[in-house]
Amino acid sequence: MRDKIVAGNWKMHKNAEETEDLLNDLINKLPSDAAVHIIVAPTFVNLASAVQHLEYTNINVAAQNMHQAESGAFTGEISAGMLTSIGVTSVILGHSERRAYFNETSELLKNKVDTALKNELVVIFCFGEELKDRQEGTHFELIEKQLKESLFHLEEKDWASIILAYEPVWAIGTGETASPEQAQEMHAFIRKTVEDKFGAGVSNHVAILYGGSVKPDNAQEIFSKPDVDGGLIGGAALKADDFVAIVQAAM
Ligand code: 13P
Repeated sequence: MRDKIVAGNWKMHKNAEETEDLLNDLINKLPSDAAVHIIVAPTFVNLASAVQHLEYTNINVAAQNMHQAESGAFTGEISAGMLTSIGVTSVILGHSERRAYFNETSELLKNKVDTALKNELVVIFCFGEELKDRQEGTHFELIEKQLKESLFHLEEKDWASIILAYEPVWAIGTGETASPEQAQEMHAFIRKTVEDKFGAGVSNHVAILYGGSVKPDNAQEIFSKPDVDGGLIGGAALKADDFVAIVQAAM
C-alpha cells in the first residue's frame, strides 16, 4: 500500500501576511493524525517563515522551483542548498508553467533533478500533455518521452526521493478535470513505463499524484483510483477549507 500525498502548489499567490493566515488556518483545520502526507509550496520569500510556522506539525514545505547549479553568478536564482538550509524538504520541478513560460526543457529538468537529489531534496516531478497531444492521440508517447528525458538516467535508489505528478496542461486552472478514468488510465501507463525501466520494486512504491482542477467535489472519486496516490492542488490549495476537504478525501 502506498501512502497518499496531498500537496498544495500556491504558485505566485499570498504575501507574507496572507501566507501566515493560511498556514494558521491549515494548522487549525487539518487533522493532525491524517494518514496522508501533506505538503505546501508557498513562494520563495515565504518559505523560511512557513518552515518555522509548521515546525511542530505534520505539514512539510516544498519550494516551487530551484536552480540547477550549486551556486554561482545567477542573479535572482535560488539553489538547492539554500532551500535545505532553511528546512525545505522537497521541490516541485517541471511544472508546465515553468516549461511553458520559462523555457524549461527536459534536459534542463534532468540537471535540476540531479542537483535536487544530490542535496537530499525530494523531487515532485511534474509532467503532462497539452490538449492538442490528446486530440492527436500522442499523449502516451509524450508522457513517456517526458519521463525518459528527465528521469530515466536515475538509479533505482534515487526513486525513493521521487514523487511523480501527472498534470494534463488542459486541466490546469481551467476547471476542466481529467475524468477519474482518464487519470487512472494515464497513471497506470506511467507506472508501467517506470516498471519496464526500473522494475516492479520501484514502480509499486513511487507515488503518482494527479493535478489539474482538483476540487473538494471531485477529489474523492479521483483519489479512489488504484494508481492515483493523491493530488497536486493549485487553486483549491489557496482556501483552507477546500484544501482540508481535499486532504480528507484522500484519507
Ligand atoms: P489547479 O488545481 O488550479 O488546476 O492547478 C493545478 C496545478 O498546476 C498544481 O501544480
